[in-house]
Amino acid sequence: MTTTVLNSARTMVALDNMDQNTMFEFLETMPKECPWVKVGLEQYLAHGKSLITTIHDKYEKRIFLDLKLHDIPNTVAKALGTLSDLPVEFITVHLSGGRAMLEAVQKVRQEKISHVNILGVSFLTSLDELDLSEMFLIENSNLAFKALFNLALETKTQGIVCSPFELPLIKDCEKANDRVLTKVCPGIRFQDEISGGDIGDQKRVLSPHEAFDKGADFLVMGRSLTQAKDINGRITQLNS
Ligand code: C5P
Repeated sequence: MTTTVLNSARTMVALDNMDQNTMFEFLETMPKECPWVKVGLEQYLAHGKSLITTIHDKYEKRIFLDLKLHDIPNTVAKALGTLSDLPVEFITVHLSGGRAMLEAVQKVRQEKISHVNILGVSFLTSLDELDLSEMFLIENSNLAFKALFNLALETKTQGIVCSPFELPLIKDCEKANDRVLTKVCPGIRFQDEISGGDIGDQKRVLSPHEAFDKGADFLVMGRSLTQAKDINGRITQLNS
């Protein structure tokens, strides 16, 4: 028998742009069909480990801790080790930290935090071709993305955060390596928001259904859900 996983059960809700009280009010009313939240650097620096345990223990949510760690191998490994007592299931590191850093991350994962899946961040979507050319003399960002994705494959990083537009580039690399990674995609808006030009500061977005069709395993959605007038209606839309 095959069981279908609801789209909302594969959508991580980004708890951004809220003070702690607003966040707790939101979590109080967050539908049960949405088990995942994403906590970013801002909330973690402001409220620390106690926020994570509260979200997990009191609100019974599964947690993606999006810290985007990026430093020398020893420092990142030590930093990850300090998170071993947290009930989180995904943590991000920058793939541009390089092979040695990614290997150190997997070593510490094995030793201390095997319950956590590491997600590699490729290029920040806030950087465009001009930025990449200015910073790294990179002319073709697709090639650079593929190089970073292959590094994630070779270092046995568990997954990647990428734009849904990059998903077609990944398929070939996965096939060549006979290995698939967990793919987590931000940059998502509902179809009516896209049609109405209501996409906020995101530049290129896809609808949830389009992103899942392209091969996303999980989506990250923030404002479309946290600022929705009718979140239950949006969850129904996500799942239909
Ligand atoms: O509100 P919105 O849906 O645009 O929020 C998207 C979330 O995904 C934010 O937490 C943002 O930091 C995160 N994100 C992103 N693009 C990336 C990586 C993360 O928008 N490349």
